[in-house]
Amino acid sequence: MAGPSLSGRTVIVTGAASGIGAATIQALAEEGATTIGVDRAAMNGPASLTIEMSVTDEAAWSDTVPHVLDRFGTIDGLVNCAGIIRMAPVTDMELDLFRQSMQVNVEGPFLAMKHVLPVMYGQGRGSVVNLSSTAGIAGSPGAAAYCASKAAVRLLSKSVALEALANGSGVRVNSLHPAMAETPMVQDIVAQLGGSADTLDQMRALQPSGRFIPVSAVVDAILFLLSDGSTFINGTDFLVDNGFTAQ
Ligand SMILES: NC(=O)c1ccc[n+]([C@@H]2O[C@H](COP(=O)([O-])OP(=O)(O)OC[C@H]3O[C@@H](n4cnc5c(N)ncnc54)[C@H](O)[C@@H]3O)[C@@H](O)[C@H]2O)c1
Repeated sequence: MAGPSLSGRTVIVTGAASGIGAATIQALAEEGATTIGVDRAAMNGPASLTIEMSVTDEAAWSDTVPHVLDRFGTIDGLVNCAGIIRMAPVTDMELDLFRQSMQVNVEGPFLAMKHVLPVMYGQGRGSVVNLSSTAGIAGSPGAAAYCASKAAVRLLSKSVALEALANGSGVRVNSLHPAMAETPMVQDIVAQLGGSADTLDQMRALQPSGRFIPVSAVVDAILFLLSDGSTFINGTDFLVDNGFTAQ
């Protein structure tokens, strides 16, 4: 799905220490993009700059955005990958865990966009990719907090896309909805469900193909949405789900 080259573009990727975020940094670096990795955990890999912070910390975003601009001059892309999942039926879920899900998964992208979009509007270009999930389209028992947060990302993204269209800035915003890809987050789900060896097989069996999608399929879609090959793809809920939501 690769679009035109992202060589020379400057892209902020949150959740860059692990899984999809780390693989996105790697792929962008291979394309010759300048990458800024943001995560609350320490980051390895080829990012041009790493910033250890919580995406929920507005003061940190206030510092980070001017710092990135001073260093690199532009911010062409923002990929909001940082996310958490807290599994429990609603009747057993602590309010604090529900709030954590909303803080990281919804307030995180909100704060990132709040601080990065003025730069993109000023430049007259930019692309934002917000990681939602098939769990932002269809419900899932035991994952109500996650589904609620990912559904919020979908309409947050659409609303901001319309704001960007109305101001004529040329900035695009899409939510991306992957099916399950095997990353540390999936291991985390297995651990939260009791860590049985069967759990992964049961999760795979929910997919029409019986398999998870590769992380590279998600990364390809992110790079496409960042690129000029997707100029008229804006405000969409872009699915990479290998038929999951066709069921
Ligand atoms: N893996 C999947 O199957 C899948 C499917 C659909 C959507 N997603 C979404 O894709 C994104 C990436 O998922 P992943 O599988 O790579 O997860 P992951 O657990 O491998 O990585 C998530 C990263 O986010 C970071 N993070 C968490 N809270 C943070 C905070 N407050 N501030 C900064 N960083 C924080 C973690 O440290 C970690 O490095 C998530 O938003 C997830 O919900 C994943």
